[in-house]
Amino acid sequence: MNRIIVNGGKRLIGEVRIGGSKNAALPILFGGILTAEVCTFSELPRVSDVLRTLEILKFLGARIRFLENGDVEVDYKGIRPRMPPPVLTGRIRGSTYLLGAMLGRFGHAELGGVGGCNFGTRPIDQHLAGFAALGAQVTETKDGVRIAAPEGLRGTHFCLAMPSVGATANLMLAGVAASGEVRLAGVAIEPHVVALAEFLTAAGAQITMESGARLRIRGGKPLHGCAFRMIPDMIEAGTYLAFGVATRGRVTVRDVRPAHLTATLDTLRRMGVRVLEGRDHVGIDATHGYHGTSIVTGPYPAFPTDLHPQFAALFCLPHARGQGSVTETVWRERFRYTAELARMGAHTTVEGNCAHFAPSPLRHTTVRSPDLRGGAALLAAALATEGRSEIRDAVNIGRGYEHLGEKLAALGAQITVY
Ligand code: UD1
Repeated sequence: MNRIIVNGGKRLIGEVRIGGSKNAALPILFGGILTAEVCTFSELPRVSDVLRTLEILKFLGARIRFLENGDVEVDYKGIRPRMPPPVLTGRIRGSTYLLGAMLGRFGHAELGGVGGCNFGTRPIDQHLAGFAALGAQVTETKDGVRIAAPEGLRGTHFCLAMPSVGATANLMLAGVAASGEVRLAGVAIEPHVVALAEFLTAAGAQITMESGARLRIRGGKPLHGCAFRMIPDMIEAGTYLAFGVATRGRVTVRDVRPAHLTATLDTLRRMGVRVLEGRDHVGIDATHGYHGTSIVTGPYPAFPTDLHPQFAALFCLPHARGQGSVTETVWRERFRYTAELARMGAHTTVEGNCAHFAPSPLRHTTVRSPDLRGGAALLAAALATEGRSEIRDAVNIGRGYEHLGEKLAALGAQITVY
């Protein structure tokens, strides 16, 4: 996916099936390394971040089979303890999960480069402090990091300084290989973190998520291969709901877990959008319009940072009533998309980690997708704006949305994806 052309201004009406969660797939695919056996995954989204993860696993020695029923089978037996070339790991942020998984299986791990969206610095100090608490020696090199636990990983109590998704997942991966009990406090409780715990449990680990953002692992249990179904992607779901609202349409997302979308749906209701929740689907009706509101992003269950740009785009559209604002507490610099929205005529002001948006007429033009969700925001604006818009650098959007063109076309969009 390089370029997206949209002939906007068409109301989106209909239903769309949501695929498996990218944010769950990455740590789980790397987590399979700990089993050293065959794992079978269903609902694995075929987005580029997942395909790149499979490439890294293949480089390390895994055997991968795409089954006829759509499942993906990964045989982790042949994985060898080596460092993948930074050119491979540097393309996805999720490659940090190699640290916990390789450390857990082989007692050492080395990583040369990590990629992902550019939101300013993306520290991993909590991952490293947690590994050290588990008894590993951590050496930061000029281009990466080396971790070794020659005497094995041991049980510990560790409290995260902030609820980091990445650190929680990484410490869970290393923790299941530790001898004794690992207690983690202040952990992230995102659905994809819980999904990783469920996957590791299905593979034989003993992990208990406790109230108060705590997690207990009885480490050292031998893991085995298993079958695992990815959870639905709450960010893909929220994005299609935003596309529906942008076009003042009526869209239902199917095969989702509405409980994962609570903050998103509350926000939509605050915006005056009609929301209908079913057991495994959510519908919105924005045909009568909507108004702006204030959003504060935060760790789950707060409003997800990965839906902030898409909602910010809604606040800029001419048919929004009143102003909107976003306070970003997770990635304080996640505003690169605002410059591109401004090229379409949007009224945006960024002050520190807060951005304000006022409705104004937008014009179709050519914009560049600065990152994955920022690209989705531009797409929302393009879908709502009369005329031919072009989104370049759409490769960023392809990192997280499967069958994007087909799904939007089925809802009535005029879209071509190159
Ligand atoms: C974060 C989001 C996740 C989103 C992803 C991509 C949260 C809690 N996490 O996950 O939902 O899918 O970005 O947009 O919403 N931090 C440190 N030191 C560390 C680790 C993190 O200071 O060692 C800080 C980060 O700078 C950031 C916050 O903690 O401000 C959350 O980071 P983290 O959850 O680890 O990032 P991701 O795993 O990338």
